Amino acid sequence: MNPPLSPIRAIQQLPDNLISQIAAGEVVERPSAVVKELLENALDAGATQITVRLEQGGVKRIAITDNGRGIAPEQLPLALARHATSKISSLHDLENVATLGFRGEALASIASVSQLTLTSRTADAGHASEIDGSTLAVTPSSGAQGTTVDVQDLYFNTPARRKFLKSEQTEFGHCAEVVRRIALARPDVSFSLTHNGKTVDHWNITEIAKRSASILGNEFANARLALDEGAGPLRLHGFVGLPTASKARADAQYFYVNGRFVRDKLLVHAVRAAYQDVLHGDRYPSYVLGLDLDPALVDVNVHPSKIEVRFRDSRSVHQFVFHAVSRALAQTSATSFGATPAPLPSPSGAMPWIRGSQEHLQAILQPNTQVPQQQTSFGPQFAPTANGVAQTMANYGALFTGNDPAGGAATYPAAPQQLASQTLPSDDFPLGFALAQLHGIYILAQNTKGLVLVDMHAAHERILYEQLKGALDEDAMQVQPLLIPVTFFADAVEVGTAEENQETLHALGFDIAAISPTTLAVRSVPALLKNADAQTLARDVLRDVREFGGSRVLVERRNELLGTLACHTAVRANRSLTAPEMNALLRQMEATERADQCNHGRPTWSQLALSDLDKLFLRGQ
Ligand SMILES: Nc1ncnc2c1ncn2[C@@H]1O[C@H](COP(=O)(O)OP(=O)(O)O)[C@@H](O)[C@H]1O
Ligand SMILES: [Mg+2]
Repeated sequence: MNPPLSPIRAIQQLPDNLISQIAAGEVVERPSAVVKELLENALDAGATQITVRLEQGGVKRIAITDNGRGIAPEQLPLALARHATSKISSLHDLENVATLGFRGEALASIASVSQLTLTSRTADAGHASEIDGSTLAVTPSSGAQGTTVDVQDLYFNTPARRKFLKSEQTEFGHCAEVVRRIALARPDVSFSLTHNGKTVDHWNITEIAKRSASILGNEFANARLALDEGAGPLRLHGFVGLPTASKARADAQYFYVNGRFVRDKLLVHAVRAAYQDVLHGDRYPSYVLGLDLDPALVDVNVHPSKIEVRFRDSRSVHQFVFHAVSRALAQTSATSFGATPAPLPSPSGAMPWIRGSQEHLQAILQPNTQVPQQQTSFGPQFAPTANGVAQTMANYGALFTGNDPAGGAATYPAAPQQLASQTLPSDDFPLGFALAQLHGIYILAQNTKGLVLVDMHAAHERILYEQLKGALDEDAMQVQPLLIPVTFFADAVEVGTAEENQETLHALGFDIAAISPTTLAVRSVPALLKNADAQTLARDVLRDVREFGGSRVLVERRNELLGTLACHTAVRANRSLTAPEMNALLRQMEATERADQCNHGRPTWSQLALSDLDKLFLRGQ
């Protein structure tokens, strides 16, 4: 049965206030959107000092005061009128708009869903004037130059919208985030934020390095790279966090286009792609980046909230951002650490990620602690008679050399006996020479600055990954045929995947053939991975190929796949390494781009300078 038709009504023009209330649904859908619009107005008015006072998450009250140029009394009614703006007056202006606002609908929308009072004073006025949002009556008032917009009882007359609001704390959280975003873009303006009478944030005028450090915190400030690159009409500047400053959530990503915070898929993707080599799927990079370009090259009028933009030439913007961020991140190879130092651990443990090794270090360096027998724990690597050395050499001699004959362990000059005393550190080998292996996890090495600690698994993983990537890029994946194929019982899905993806598997250096409906045989593996267990490796690669979708794996998900392979193949903890093996690893780290971080974004090594060690012993203080 059809529902009864409602009676036909005549078409009529909507009243102004209703139009504004409808627009308010898009422009100011929650308190934080009001905060954004009012802050943008203050900045457009040239303010250098802005205070934001909120009550009850902004629902009860949002009062924003600025010291900008103000509004003349006779203009006050216009400021609240719909489609009235001082910022553009023609299509040409719109296409070249340099202000944050231009649609002339924010104040009208806000006034239609709240009790609004606007107080303002220009430089040449004798006193301030205020206008009541509901009566539009203008009366004399008091106050310094600038503007205060006081918004009370948001959505008091639109209960449906009010129902959609979340808890006071949630709404406040959104408002505070909006203030942070805008404060990050404008270090030349001071901001303060109070909630229910308490000061929550205050930022003085400063420069971007300091403002971003105070807003994003020490973890970001201590592990970031500065970036400022231009190409033709495009300029990208700001800071990208090292993978060590990555987060489990994408909540520290700030991108601005011509000073406007945006959420743009294209830009997020470009940055993400640049991090792909150094960060794994479930981690999110932190960054504060500003892209500046001729306003005519970007359309900001895509959505009423202007959070999305459209670039005239999106491809070149993507390319530019991707390459600029990639270049910044590539600075982190081990050999360049003099120029871009890996964060130094301090004895106070300021670097949270270094604490683990710090404890180990303290344990060795301080006598009479729980590790009294350091000497003997180093024994197996150093004692020529220990079967450890001979066996390790025989079994794993080629471990770190991959298929690179020049990288043979024996070509490096450090024999175990010489290490500590006779091999002088030199600047040619920034990571120095191995002294010992600690608890089967860390390599201790000596360089000109002092002590180097290396997480051997993480470092090896990084090297393998870069080698695999290089080989695949050059279509030169060397293959290691297996003398005796490794066969294993496989399920139908694995057999099917192997059969359907022969070409992809070959490109990766694998020969995996079905020799019965339930048996797979691995006949060759990539030479770089020849030390790994062939069956586990084959299973992993089949699983990834299946999950990522056949040939797509080599394009879109390639680096993830290589990451899995490298991780499974990299030397495990608790494996004894000989000194030549350790030194080979150090040399390869020096030669590997981005060797500072493993594929999961953890650091691979850390420097403890002699001065850091002196501090541990209160020397020279
Ligand atoms: N804080 C302020 N200081 C000075 N002028 C303001 C301020 N807020 C609003 N105005 C004036 O009121 C007009 C309307 O504001 P708004 O409704 O937000 O539209 P828009 O910002 O798109 O122009 C602005 O164009 C500006 O001239
Ligand atoms: Mg505005």
